Amino acid sequence: MIKKGIILAGGTGTRLSPLTKAVNKQLLPIYDKPLIFYPLSILMLANIKNILMIVNPGQIENFKSLLGDGKRFGIKIQYKIQKKPKGLADAFILGKNFIKKDNVALILGDNFFYGQSLTDKLEKSLTHTVGSRIFLKNVKTPENFGVAKIINNKIKKIIEKPKKFISNYAITGLYFFDNKVIDYAKKLKPSKRGEIEITDILNIYKNSGNLHYEHIGRGAIWSDAGKIEDMTNISSFVQSVEKVQSIKIACLEEISLSKKWINKKTILKNINFYGNCDYGNYLKKL
Ligand code: DAU
Repeated sequence: MIKKGIILAGGTGTRLSPLTKAVNKQLLPIYDKPLIFYPLSILMLANIKNILMIVNPGQIENFKSLLGDGKRFGIKIQYKIQKKPKGLADAFILGKNFIKKDNVALILGDNFFYGQSLTDKLEKSLTHTVGSRIFLKNVKTPENFGVAKIINNKIKKIIEKPKKFISNYAITGLYFFDNKVIDYAKKLKPSKRGEIEITDILNIYKNSGNLHYEHIGRGAIWSDAGKIEDMTNISSFVQSVEKVQSIKIACLEEISLSKKWINKKTILKNINFYGNCDYGNYLKKL
């Protein structure tokens, strides 16, 4: 069972400048809550309560004032500073004392997932203890992502941001790994763009026959918030769903209460914490 998760919430966010000049991308709004709530909610839905948040220097206090040590949500959040954005695989080098001898999930702090079918797939993935498991989504612009080529239900090729078309299957920013990932990450050399790439780790797993995949499929949606257009698209989606269905997506307290990690007393404290706002009023209804 995978019980630990890392959220990568550093990076430069250059493509969103000037929005990201003073504040990290993951703290910017997606409709009615900060972007970071969404990937955090996915780990919580996967029953992962022990979380390492990797952040930029100078941003740790901002994250702490929003999320604290996680107790408010019945989880444990630790923080680690990444001095420079060396690449996604750096998560396992920075996180090695957190991971110890366990298996681990990684989610990118700018990734948005939503859909009932997803929760079932997540729960299934947690029970796999050998190798790595990734989630694929059919996209129109594969050149913007890590991409997997599938032949006869097997992953044959993985390329980071392919210049030539190999397939439409983007590798989404949610990954599950066994403990070998730490050693694999340590051995990586920076790519041409100067980063240690998560796709290089996935290729090591693939070559040893230990890379597994799931399609996210039509029952769920996925997007990363790489560009301003993505942020506004995801915001509109969240707004529509919340309005039509009278529910909130990624309400951390609601997830936690449903799992009995917190009680109504903690919800009351959280209502005070947020103050008189739409999110706080929603908590009152819980
Ligand atoms: O969103 C999925 C894609 O994410 C995958 O398909 C790609 O294979 C993967 O490389 C990644 O591509 P991006 O170019 O979109 O990654 P980006 O640089 O935007 O970083 C993703 C998140 O990780 C973002 O929240 C910033 C954070 N980050 C990034 C780097 C490079 C860090 O915290 N530290 C880093 O060193």
